[in-house]
Amino acid sequence: MTSELGGRKGSSSASPAGSHAAPGASPRQQMFSLLMGCYASQCLAVAADLRIADHLHEAPQRPSDLARDTQCDARAMYRLLRALAGIGVFHERDDGSFELTATGELLRSDAPGSLQPIARLIGSDLQWPTLGHLGHTVRTGEPAFEHVFGMTMWEYLATHADAHALFHASMSAFSIAEVRAILDNYDFSDAVTVVDVAGGQGHLLAAIVDKYPHVEGILFERPEVTREARDQFVANGLGHRCQAIAGDMFSTIPSGADCYIMKSVLHDWDDERATQLLRTCRDAMVDRATLLIITRVVRPANEPDLSKFQDLNMLINLNGAERTADEFRELLRNADLQLDEIIATPSPLSILVCTADTSRQPEPPTSP
Ligand SMILES: C[S@@+](CC[C@H](N)C(=O)[O-])C[C@H]1O[C@@H](n2cnc3c(N)ncnc32)[C@H](O)[C@@H]1O
Repeated sequence: MTSELGGRKGSSSASPAGSHAAPGASPRQQMFSLLMGCYASQCLAVAADLRIADHLHEAPQRPSDLARDTQCDARAMYRLLRALAGIGVFHERDDGSFELTATGELLRSDAPGSLQPIARLIGSDLQWPTLGHLGHTVRTGEPAFEHVFGMTMWEYLATHADAHALFHASMSAFSIAEVRAILDNYDFSDAVTVVDVAGGQGHLLAAIVDKYPHVEGILFERPEVTREARDQFVANGLGHRCQAIAGDMFSTIPSGADCYIMKSVLHDWDDERATQLLRTCRDAMVDRATLLIITRVVRPANEPDLSKFQDLNMLINLNGAERTADEFRELLRNADLQLDEIIATPSPLSILVCTADTSRQPEPPTSP
């Protein structure tokens, strides 16, 4: 990521939270560094919340000036900046001011591929408390979210406007960064109607319809999300070729399209619900239709893979799961679908090209 954005000072020392032990560190130092990873995450979240990277974008600033502009304590601000400079997010200059590194640029709200909403989400009152109850999930297998908030995350988002805005801003931040990788690696020329199932605020669908002028798009989402998506389509001049339909994807999905997409959707659900969702989609698909599952695919045991932490995120917040290729095959088989191809992209997401498994005939009725 840092090399893509070019080298400003400090970029080479940047490393992910929890893994900033020096090269050659002893097991004890490595373990302590891992243990302190939660501090790195929370410091990043606070810096993102206070829009520090936006303040530093124009010019380096002293901690006292930043503290004044953000209504914070000057000494505490310095200590936050110093900690983040130690892991390559900011850089302290000889005159005591701080500047952004290439890694820190990603906390700017308007940086290409900005991770600012995601940093805010991870440290927010929506997600930080549930991480603190990971132990409950591991002991019981139940999502910590319901233990902490007394309702599912979807119920909470539907009734808490700030959390809803933050969650969907984060999903859009992921989507905007991932859309290019998807469009560069999958050719939608043969599609006529594309249904994006649970397509969030519609960024992927808008990009597909924009690139392929013959394609009509249907976004299928919860009612509180379709309103925002519709505004987005109209603002981008795509209102005549993109519609947003509200509904519950477990009950029905618009039928008859030749291309269905589920991007970062199945990981929100356990196997039973995911199979139900795939079956609903299969029922909507004509036999020659394609389903594109755009998702992380968990790497085999022992391989380093952030998807394995993402998997726990899904478990504690939604009772969901990230899955291996074999687990996807099994889910699809149970919904009379088959996995034809896995297309890797430069993003963490792969495109799983799926079609109806027409070899599996329905069971003949048993005679009385
Ligand atoms: C993790 S987000 C992914 C959004 C989008 N596909 C993306 O990649 O940015 C999951 C989406 O599922 C939607 N969703 C959850 N339950 C749903 C339901 N029962 N019917 C339709 N959409 C639903 C949520 O509103 C949310 O936008």
